[in-house]
Amino acid sequence: MEIVVSGIRPTGDLHLGNYFGALKNFLKMQYENNCYFFIADYHSLTTHPTPADLHGNVKRVLVNYLAAGLDPEAACIYVQSDIPQVTELYLLLNMNAYKGELERVASFKEKIRTQPDNVNAGLLTYPTLMAADVIIHKAHKVPVGKDQEQHLEMARTFANRFNRLYKVDYFIEPVAYNFGEELIKIPGLDGSTKMSKSDNENSCIYLGDSAEAIRKKVMKAVSDQGPTEPNQPKAQAVENLFNLMKAVSAEDTLNHFNDLYNTCQIRYGDMKKQLAEDLVIFTAPFRERILELSDDNAYLHKVATQGAEKARESASKTIKEVREIIGFRAF
Ligand code: TRP
Repeated sequence: MEIVVSGIRPTGDLHLGNYFGALKNFLKMQYENNCYFFIADYHSLTTHPTPADLHGNVKRVLVNYLAAGLDPEAACIYVQSDIPQVTELYLLLNMNAYKGELERVASFKEKIRTQPDNVNAGLLTYPTLMAADVIIHKAHKVPVGKDQEQHLEMARTFANRFNRLYKVDYFIEPVAYNFGEELIKIPGLDGSTKMSKSDNENSCIYLGDSAEAIRKKVMKAVSDQGPTEPNQPKAQAVENLFNLMKAVSAEDTLNHFNDLYNTCQIRYGDMKKQLAEDLVIFTAPFRERILELSDDNAYLHKVATQGAEKARESASKTIKEVREIIGFRAF
């Protein structure tokens, strides 16, 4: 079985874009591979969260993933900071990670631009920590989005460099696991093509949203004046409403509103009402589980402990071997 590793940023609650993106893939992969999914809380320290925010966001991500069906009996689910071996490998890899190559990483350059007052060493060495996350379990595959491919390239560089330096064939090259093109892209309610929390909170439908919140957000979604002639191409915001409907509604419903659009009879108010009700039905089971799990600290503790034990087993084996290769030997 192939080893799959992926990190989840502790950004709090998940929205439909997250669900139809990474999460659905995780759900499928967890039964077909030896998966390690962890919450990347060390990484999140680059932005200096308060202790309460840090803990709250880790908890909410864990709860959301479990509520959506991530199965702790199938995948190893853990919190990154429960595995101190990762930081040891990070330190060791940093000795052979060069300032120039780290400075050239696109995500780092972006941070220099967006947060010039907080360009810390953690940001510069973000790719080294991510490489450590991946190669500590000798991952074959890493399911990541396009924005992470350069980081993964660095992981391969660091793995190969270690092998070359110590003349060993120890680390393997991790490759990106692409989510596939057939994935449904979830647009925002604000006319943007991608549902994104950082752009606009109100453009997102969260898995834990109440029926009331969903109705309110959907009714406020951007549309247009309506078509003026039959079979007119749709404006982006209108296309978005249809795409959301495609993701959560019955095919008949979608066809019905498409026909109304194409014959210039559509009333967006009606369409939004239908879409809101279908979103409520779609998210209801998630919301129920989220509420249940949020109150069940004993269960969350059990999941995190069990995950940490399994991850530590794999990580400490690698660290033991790496230390031996490097020359840290007992007297
Ligand atoms: N950098 C990833 C992101 O921003 C999160 C992450 C951290 C990760 N470590 C990882 C992803 C290891 C895959 C493998 O989404």
